[in-house]
Order: sequence, then structure tokens, then C-alpha cells
Amino acid sequence: MPSNFIAKGADGYEAVMGRWSQRLAAPFLEFAGVPSRGRVLDAGCGTGSLSVALAAHPGLEAIEALDFEEDFVAALKKRTADPRISARRGDVCALPYEDGDLDGVYSLLVLHFVSDPHQAVREMRRVLRPGGTAAATVWAFGGMPSWSLFWDAILAHEPEAADKLPPRTKRPMTGQGELRAAFEGAGFADVADSVLTISMDYANFEDFWYPMVYGQGAFGGFVDGLPQARRDRLRDGVRAAYLGNDSDGPRAFATVALAVRGTA
Ligand SMILES: C[S@@+](CC[C@H](N)C(=O)[O-])C[C@H]1O[C@@H](n2cnc3c(N)ncnc32)[C@H](O)[C@@H]1O
Repeated sequence: MPSNFIAKGADGYEAVMGRWSQRLAAPFLEFAGVPSRGRVLDAGCGTGSLSVALAAHPGLEAIEALDFEEDFVAALKKRTADPRISARRGDVCALPYEDGDLDGVYSLLVLHFVSDPHQAVREMRRVLRPGGTAAATVWAFGGMPSWSLFWDAILAHEPEAADKLPPRTKRPMTGQGELRAAFEGAGFADVADSVLTISMDYANFEDFWYPMVYGQGAFGGFVDGLPQARRDRLRDGVRAAYLGNDSDGPRAFATVALAVRGTA
């Protein structure tokens, strides 16, 4: 199975993660660098946050976008009419491009979900022309305080969640130096890494709770399966954690991603 990402529809994805990947795309491309012209790949495009950001570079002639999830590819096709963007289903561990075909290869929040991320990085290098740049970014382990708050509150109020939900383990590539080591191991030159920070801003508790629970993955089924009294208690507990000692309203959480780039 090439993807460890649990998807639950493109709309849910947008609410729970796409809004943040859109925000991360700009600093990521600024760090990565985009060629002034040529053909580039968004490897693991999801619903297209990065493809759309790449399309803001008018000199690019073609933007290939590839993802394992059919639904996401369809959502990207619906989202943009830019004729330079071609979206298709595929596996980043076996990229459907010839050696040296591309001028840039980018991967936004993907490698930590790929079952063999080292193979994906080797593929990113294989399809690049000599001198072309590849770059990748993933959320840092422990770098997502809003998600930690959510998880900690869930586990505190509903210990059964520890058995019924996927375990909260460290994903590959999310530790300091791992992306860099993978790029160096794949033979990239001029490898550089960096830390990127965005703010995850929620309008109020509902904006925090609803997408997290129903946007993707196993949470929705777990919460809906609880008896009403426990469901209410859980929601109240997470709400209290979100509010702290203040009234309901906006909250902002600085969130950290690790990034790497290298030259083929
Ligand atoms: C967190 S999402 C990121 C999507 C998008 N890049 C973004 O930033 O919004 C992770 C994506 O990786 C994709 N993915 C995981 N393993 C994959 C693989 N082996 N080949 C292609 N896509 C894969 C998933 O389908 C999912 O769309």
C-alpha cells in the first residue's frame, strides 16, 4: 500500500488540512525556488494547494500534478481551469515520467504519508534534469500545537480513544535532519534544509472542532459511535481546552514544518 494517508473526501480534506497547506505553499516555494520556465511536478498534489501556487509563476509551461487518491485528483481538476495543470492518479514511488523529464519537483506534506519515502525521494531525483531542483516539506514532529491540544483533550476525556483510533506515533521524515539525510542519500547535491512556520487560525471552537472530527480519518466514526452523554462530555472537554480561560472566538497556533531542497 503506497499511501498511509486516511482520506475522507476532498471537501473534508480542504477544511481539515487544505486550508493550511495553501498557507504553507508560499513559504515552501520561496525556500525551494521555482525555475523561471519549464515543466514541474507537484508530487502528492492532494486537492492542489501547491499546484495552484505553482501556477502563479507565469513562466512555467507545464505543471504536472499526481496523487494516489482519485477523489483529490478529481477535486483539483474541478478547482482550476489553468491549461498548464495536468492532474492524474499515480504513485510517487513509481513516477510516470522519463529520467530527466522535469525542471522542478515539489512535495508538500506528502513524504510522511508515503510507505517508502526514500524510494519517493529517489524517484524525485530520477525524473529531474541535471541541475533541476527538488524540494519537500512535512510537519515537524511535535510542531502542530492545535492538533496536540485536540488529541490530548480527546485522550484525557475519552481514554477509549487510545485503543480505537490510529496510534499517535512519530511519522517518518518528521524529525530534525531526516529529510536532509534522505535527500543526501538519494544523491542530491547542494542539499539545504530549513524550518517553515505558519499560523493555524481558527475563527472559534466550531471552526476547530468540526473539521478535525468530521474532515477526515477515523475521528468522526469514533465520536458518533459514543453514547450521547459521553459525546457531549467529550465535546465540552475539548471546548474547554480550546477556550482556556477566555470566551469563544479566534485562536492562533504557530505551526512548524521542516523543509529540504537539493539539486540533481
Ligand atoms: C497531507 S496530504 C497533502 C496533499 C497536498 N500536497 C497538500 O499539501 O494539500 C498527503 C497526500 O499524499 C498522498 N500520498 C500518500 N502516499 C502517496 C503515494 N505513494 N503516491 C501518491 N500520493 C500519495 C495522499 O493521497 C495525500 O493526498
